[in-house]
Amino acid sequence: MTPHDRAFANSAGTTISRSIFSDSEVYQRELARVFSRTWLFLAHEGQFRKPGDFFTTYMGADPIIVTRQRDGSYRGLLNSCRHRGMRVCRFDEGNAKVFTCPYHGWGYNTEGSLVNVPDQEATYGDSLDTSAWGLKTVPRIETYRGLIFGTWDDEVPPLVEYLGDFTYFLDVLLDPDGNGTEVVPNVHKWRMRGNWKLAAEQFAGDMYHAQSTHLSALIVEAQASHGIMPPATGFQVGFPSGHGLGGFDGYDYWRASGVSDETVDWMAGLADRTEAHLGSARARDMVLIHGTIFPNISLLWPRWNLRVWHPKGPDAMEVYSWCIVPKKAPDAVKRDLILDYQRHFSASGTWEQDDGEQWNYSTNSSDGFMTRDLPLHYAMGHGRAPNTRHPDFPGLVDEVTSEVNQRLFYERWEQMMASPHPKENGAALAAAIPPAETAGVK
Ligand code: FES
Ligand code: FE
Repeated sequence: MTPHDRAFANSAGTTISRSIFSDSEVYQRELARVFSRTWLFLAHEGQFRKPGDFFTTYMGADPIIVTRQRDGSYRGLLNSCRHRGMRVCRFDEGNAKVFTCPYHGWGYNTEGSLVNVPDQEATYGDSLDTSAWGLKTVPRIETYRGLIFGTWDDEVPPLVEYLGDFTYFLDVLLDPDGNGTEVVPNVHKWRMRGNWKLAAEQFAGDMYHAQSTHLSALIVEAQASHGIMPPATGFQVGFPSGHGLGGFDGYDYWRASGVSDETVDWMAGLADRTEAHLGSARARDMVLIHGTIFPNISLLWPRWNLRVWHPKGPDAMEVYSWCIVPKKAPDAVKRDLILDYQRHFSASGTWEQDDGEQWNYSTNSSDGFMTRDLPLHYAMGHGRAPNTRHPDFPGLVDEVTSEVNQRLFYERWEQMMASPHPKENGAALAAAIPPAETAGVK
């Protein structure tokens, strides 16, 4: 695709068709062309202690069971029985030797093999080749600093290459001082109206909304901020891969945040250790706030939060949200950080609900007969000279209020949407289904 051959945007990417937030055909295409071809976050290694531990999630719209194997590796199983398609596991997490389908009782082990068929001899005789009817498995699973990712695609580069220079910033969340982080038990989950891309793009690059969307929360929290405000200057950092993040130039974030004095002091010590471990460019000279790993994984550094926007049709999403805290923090500090995360984000968080309202109404006002023809404005910061205050940063660095990251996100999304998946085409699909005699049916 050339820069002048964009289906959903103008050539500069400064206006975008709002059909991408409401059109059901676009949604079906992005399941095939985006979600089946990228690394998707599945779970945190800290959720698994022993063989057979499992966690259920999604890859795009496909339900997945993530299981820990005897050798300590992880496997992703498509959570859909090969008999009539029922989910073989309906729990959020747990430990199992076998996943027994509740419909007719077919049982699959944690590797996905079909190991039990009730009354097999009486019902099927020797006509059922169980070796051919296991659960479909995710072909590639890789980890990065405790994060488990999966992809269906053979050609997507290795995970660390896919993350690229985003790891320069990701490491500040996952390993700020060389002692690592741990995941807080239990994943917050909720469903809301709104297209998943509005959430992903906001976390990638939108600091601009905070002064309006979160104004009431900012007014309430100002009482605990000791009069400290974020500086007027900051940054957005974007990558052609579609990943993006933003933050402020350095300031005393934790003293302004309303957490306990013990937590303020411990975080000041953490900044010293981060400076020693990662350098001042990632400790003193900036405060990372928000980011997105393309396509649907987002982070909030100061809330110790990582979340996935699972698509549920063009106008809805399900959020899975993890809290990850520094491993060596005292219990009281961990508790403070967890409460701080919950108060702001998670299903009951004030800031979370502020954002959710915007995504809901932005989405459901995009499929009217008149509204669908009106493009949206994505030109903020376009053509501006780069931000040079952070020379160590990789990526394209712009000012804190900019839409450069959103433009890069949609440029990447459009590149992928322009390339059909072989299974989208009826003829290719028919060719991909193996003949019955080789598919385990006699
Ligand atoms: Fe699973 Fe029939 S649908 S055993
Ligand atoms: Fe927000």
